Amino acid sequence: MTGHEVRPLSIRPEVMNAIRPMRPADAPRVAQLHRAAMGHSLWARLGQAFLATLYRRLIPNPLFVGFVYEEAGSIGGFIAGSTNTAAMFRQVFRKHFLPLAARTAVGVAMDPRVIPLLLRTSTYFDASGSDIPAESLFCSFLPELRGKKIADHINKVLFDELLYRGHKFVKITTESDNRGANRQLTHWGFQVGGRFRFYGKDMVKYVLDLEESHRVEPVGRYHQA
Ligand SMILES: CC(C)(COP(=O)(O)OP(=O)(O)OC[C@H]1O[C@@H](n2cnc3c(N)ncnc32)[C@H](O)[C@@H]1OP(=O)(O)O)[C@@H](O)C(=O)NCCC(=O)NCCS
Repeated sequence: MTGHEVRPLSIRPEVMNAIRPMRPADAPRVAQLHRAAMGHSLWARLGQAFLATLYRRLIPNPLFVGFVYEEAGSIGGFIAGSTNTAAMFRQVFRKHFLPLAARTAVGVAMDPRVIPLLLRTSTYFDASGSDIPAESLFCSFLPELRGKKIADHINKVLFDELLYRGHKFVKITTESDNRGANRQLTHWGFQVGGRFRFYGKDMVKYVLDLEESHRVEPVGRYHQA
């Protein structure tokens, strides 16, 4: 239990208006932001080209739900989630096996130390639990856009969308020592749903009851753009 008092969100319309659904054309920029903030993650260690290919294939998948924050034509942050992460990755890796395998091979050639991590990837779904299908996978903002509650807005947009699509719960796993992420999730009222080790790191699984959260409303914004 986090026990943090959840304060109401103060919504800034100009921030909300700068958030839109992620499009396939955003993949290279999203990959860049992902790599800049989470360069040590497995996907990022496979390289920028792998990440861009992965996002380009994920974004059109119906189980993918992603939004970007765009200011003056420039994307400064994003959130990527799914209504069913395991099924989404299965579908995308099956459908686009060749381009993804080719990019993975290049990534492995650049950094062979990722091989044991790759082999353990499938155990993520067992470790993080399959009880809650909806998940927020990655959220990242440029350093100069952090601490301004813009990330709060994009989280709300994702959570509203998931509730709108009928999901009562959302889960997020993060590293135990990721201060920014832990602080944000605690402020949202996420409860600790478990802890596990993955890729040699201590991870926390957080769960939010979307129906109970007074910050979340069933509003679908995905098909508006
Ligand atoms: C995780 C991340 C997106 C959080 O973004 P952020 O800009 O800190 O978030 P916000 O400004 O929306 O703040 C979130 C909450 O933390 C609080 N907060 C932010 N900075 C704070 C600070 N310095 N001191 C105290 N509280 C702070 C905010 O008040 C807000 O609380 P609220 O929800 O009650 O209003 C950002 O740190 C990031 O991009 N990190 C790099 C990528 C990453 O690690 N992603 C997570 C793994 S997927």
